[in-house]
Amino acid sequence: MRTIDWTGGHITAIDQTQLPGDLVTLRIHTVGELVLAIKRLSIRGSSAIGVAGALGVALAALNGGDVRAEAAQLRAARPTAVNLAWAVDKVLAKLDEGVQAVVDEAVFILEDDVRRNRAVCERGADFLQSRLPDKKINVHTHCNAGALACVEMGMALGVVQVLRDRDALGEVYLDETRPLLQGARLTAWELAQMGVKHTVIVDSAGATVIARGLTDAVVVGADRITANGDVVNKIGTYPLALAAARAGIPFVVAVPESVIDLATPDGASVHIEQRDPAELGAPAGTPALNLAFDVTPADLVTAIVTDERTIHGKPLG
Ligand code: MRU
Repeated sequence: MRTIDWTGGHITAIDQTQLPGDLVTLRIHTVGELVLAIKRLSIRGSSAIGVAGALGVALAALNGGDVRAEAAQLRAARPTAVNLAWAVDKVLAKLDEGVQAVVDEAVFILEDDVRRNRAVCERGADFLQSRLPDKKINVHTHCNAGALACVEMGMALGVVQVLRDRDALGEVYLDETRPLLQGARLTAWELAQMGVKHTVIVDSAGATVIARGLTDAVVVGADRITANGDVVNKIGTYPLALAAARAGIPFVVAVPESVIDLATPDGASVHIEQRDPAELGAPAGTPALNLAFDVTPADLVTAIVTDERTIHGKPLG
């Protein structure tokens, strides 16, 4: 089953807020519904929200409203993942060619995500096996960069799947990923479906698990990679990169090329989404800084693996 799809002129998507308890399919017919679904993380993960943005512009065009205004609402729904703005702009560029051209471009982005995804995962597994030959590789991951963050298969979890298929996978350690538990709820659910051995840990145990030698490599996705190679991903990624560097294990980022944002010079220039303090569970009124993403400096990244290339160091262009 796909995380997000285009069915009979509307969007179908798994409601990720209901997992792992219930597998519920949303049917989305308007941009207003879609923006709410993206904001509350029913649809989440950089590739999935890019595809959602593309299909959202198609919905706007089919519904005959003010497509440019609705596209602006989609773009603003989540600011950090560059795929959202990238996909919205690509589809919007077809507006002058008519509604069918808009729908065709959106569906192309949907299908292209699947093609690129497969290439990223094969390349990611190749890289890990070249670094860690002749062993079953224990992978450490954060948040959810699985099928639920894409259309199908996934980035970090797609790499895991390819390693498993090549009989080169040990087990997976996954951070719970506070405060919304994308790791404990979503990644654990996906790994169970895949039949892969996995262990969930609290976020603050990540460095200790790495220092104890329980994992051989950290593999994550990203929401944006800037021109200097800085990696913007779910809050809690940066500490894992520090721990991996200290332990001397690879820190690998698996992404489609569209996540590379050459127009933004560095991580410090990226708008980092801040979410509702209520998500942290402190008493009402407690001052809270709920940063949704962090920046891993380029020098801590062993490799960025995309659908087209494996990048070691700078520059990215
Ligand atoms: O806030 P989320 O759940 O959308 O954050 C998602 C992540 O940080 C993923 O790691 C990232 O999007 C890469 S998945 C292809």
